[in-house]
Amino acid sequence: MRKIFWLAKLGLVTMSVGFSAAAAAAIVMKLSHNQGTEVPVHKAMQFFADKVGQYTNGEIKVRIYPNAQLGNQRESMELVQSGALALAKTNAAELEAFDPLYSVYNLPYLFNSRAHFYQVISGEIGAEILGSHDKDRGFIGITYYDAGSRSFYGHKPFRTPADLHGVKVRVQPSPSAVKMVQLIGAHPTPIPFGELYSALQQGVVDAAENNESALVDARHGEVAKTYSRDQHTMVPDVLVMSLQYWNKLTPQQQKAVRKAGYESMMYQKDLWARRTRENIVKAKKMGVTFIDDIDKAAFKKKVLPMQQEAADSSAKMAELIDRIKRLNN
Ligand code: GCU
Repeated sequence: MRKIFWLAKLGLVTMSVGFSAAAAAAIVMKLSHNQGTEVPVHKAMQFFADKVGQYTNGEIKVRIYPNAQLGNQRESMELVQSGALALAKTNAAELEAFDPLYSVYNLPYLFNSRAHFYQVISGEIGAEILGSHDKDRGFIGITYYDAGSRSFYGHKPFRTPADLHGVKVRVQPSPSAVKMVQLIGAHPTPIPFGELYSALQQGVVDAAENNESALVDARHGEVAKTYSRDQHTMVPDVLVMSLQYWNKLTPQQQKAVRKAGYESMMYQKDLWARRTRENIVKAKKMGVTFIDDIDKAAFKKKVLPMQQEAADSSAKMAELIDRIKRLNN
């Protein structure tokens, strides 16, 4: 009897040691995002997951949940803030409501080229914004991904701001996007990305604004046949981590996550450019017309005052805008 008792106890002890060793061996982090699995950002985050596993010797496992399975961007951000979710891929427009520093990326016509954009996101300024965190906000930035430049698309060409007068345009829940569309003279309507296809189809909105790939990857080209390349913003995608998870990592693990994040950003850069080129060809086959004779000067005239207004809103914003502009010289 006694022997059985001891054996059982031993078995139990062995089991619990085994269990805690396994638990210590891997921290599982769920990552939520709202895109499909064929897009560059998903592939780059798979690369990130692999690198995190490699650099931490399997101590951290990242599991990706695409297609908004765990919630739309807003819902995922709230889960990240509360510590119920480890990672989310969102973008700077959505993040504006969670940390005002990200609003700098939503200022129209701030970047003059993709090279300028990369100088910012892969350099000191980008890292400084990612590192911004605060207990109440509950998250920290890990890395950026290219999401191209955003332009208006709908059922007719938008060559000048006058063409958008009174048009209902879907925007992300970003005060800057709302403001920009208002300044142009259109009506901003915030709608989550996943609901946009049917909103365009049913005429809840007449237009939207995004990169060319949304026409194909989100099939918006089926319900919006004219894409006018005014290229008003370059809003990066952003991978963020819950502060509750981040603070539990060792300094070495944090370093590994950052390194994997940076490398995955550089990995996505070419994937993005290639996919965009391919998607433009596909969009044309879907019947989308691309308009390039845009009166950009007229658009700029309407929206550039936003830069001054942002600079006046805080010394930090003024400093960031100034540094970003100086980088371009
Ligand atoms: C881009 C971006 C997404 C975002 C979407 C939107 O596609 O990559 O993160 O959700 O724009 O307009 O909502």
